Amino acid sequence: MIHRPRRLRQNAAVRRLVAQTRLHPADLVLPLFVKEGASGPIELGSMPGVVQHSLDSLVVAAKEAVAAGVGGVMLFGVPTKRDATGSGATDPDGILNVGLRALRDALGDETVIMADLCLDEFTSHGHCGVLTADGRVDNDATLERYAEMAVVQADSGAHVVGLSGMMDGQVAYCRGALDAAGHTDTLILAYAAKYASAAYGPFREAVESTLEGDRSTYQQDPANGIEALREVRLDLAEGADIVMVKPALPYLDVLSEVAAESDVPVAAYQVSGELAMIEAAGERGWIDRDRMVRESLISIKRAGAQIILTYYATEVARSL
Ligand code: PBG
Repeated sequence: MIHRPRRLRQNAAVRRLVAQTRLHPADLVLPLFVKEGASGPIELGSMPGVVQHSLDSLVVAAKEAVAAGVGGVMLFGVPTKRDATGSGATDPDGILNVGLRALRDALGDETVIMADLCLDEFTSHGHCGVLTADGRVDNDATLERYAEMAVVQADSGAHVVGLSGMMDGQVAYCRGALDAAGHTDTLILAYAAKYASAAYGPFREAVESTLEGDRSTYQQDPANGIEALREVRLDLAEGADIVMVKPALPYLDVLSEVAAESDVPVAAYQVSGELAMIEAAGERGWIDRDRMVRESLISIKRAGAQIILTYYATEVARSL
């Protein structure tokens, strides 16, 4: 007898029946950018289809995402002024906090509103933390800033704070500050395993990053896998509600190991460079863009991500 695995692939109906992994709109989270002073959406050259929003267009885009059934939105702010300590991040009138209030006013608890909790959009030097006198990123001084930021973001309406700065101890520190301020229900999404990746290039255009140099002293070395598990264990012990791996597609091995290790939901972030590669190759006709979008997302889910942050969230949710 010949074993015939092809029997399970014979037509679309059988393939649908036996598909092991499915995307659902609620798995998807849409990252959004809000730009201070913008009067309408501004297109981004390196991220086709993605824009910097004005406050008005932000709310429209978030409502469209919710109508399509997405699980949540993740907000990033693009301020007009930056300084050494990133003071705009903790100013209740800073653009990210204003954007959070606009989203919460418009959407209430209809969706899950997430805030990027990091200083890089707000610092003049572009690093994710404050610097020492000799220019190194000061871990413990940065924790103080993050703690303040967590409370302001929760006050502004964030259901979830997304800790993306890769400082040691950030989850415990922000949990303590949130609890002390009475925000015991605010969730922490920990970017547990965040790699120092070239795939963030287009994002830096999106947030008008001023970074010179790189983030290799705090984000992880792409060569390392085991270290990601250590980061995840620490974040779980510190009280993370959701852990995330970022970028997604080049790190599916890490994602799969994190999913095996974690007893909280696992997310993955399909980052700007992953989108840019698909869009650029699709535009040249070198790949089928729509199929590649779906294949990338199903692969991320198959590897173990329960939640996927993707710029394609609304588009894909509508098509499901
Ligand atoms: C840091 C942050 C970055 C991204 C999300 N949060 C950039 C970085 O670490 O340099 C990248 C997201 C993307 O590339 O889509 N606040």
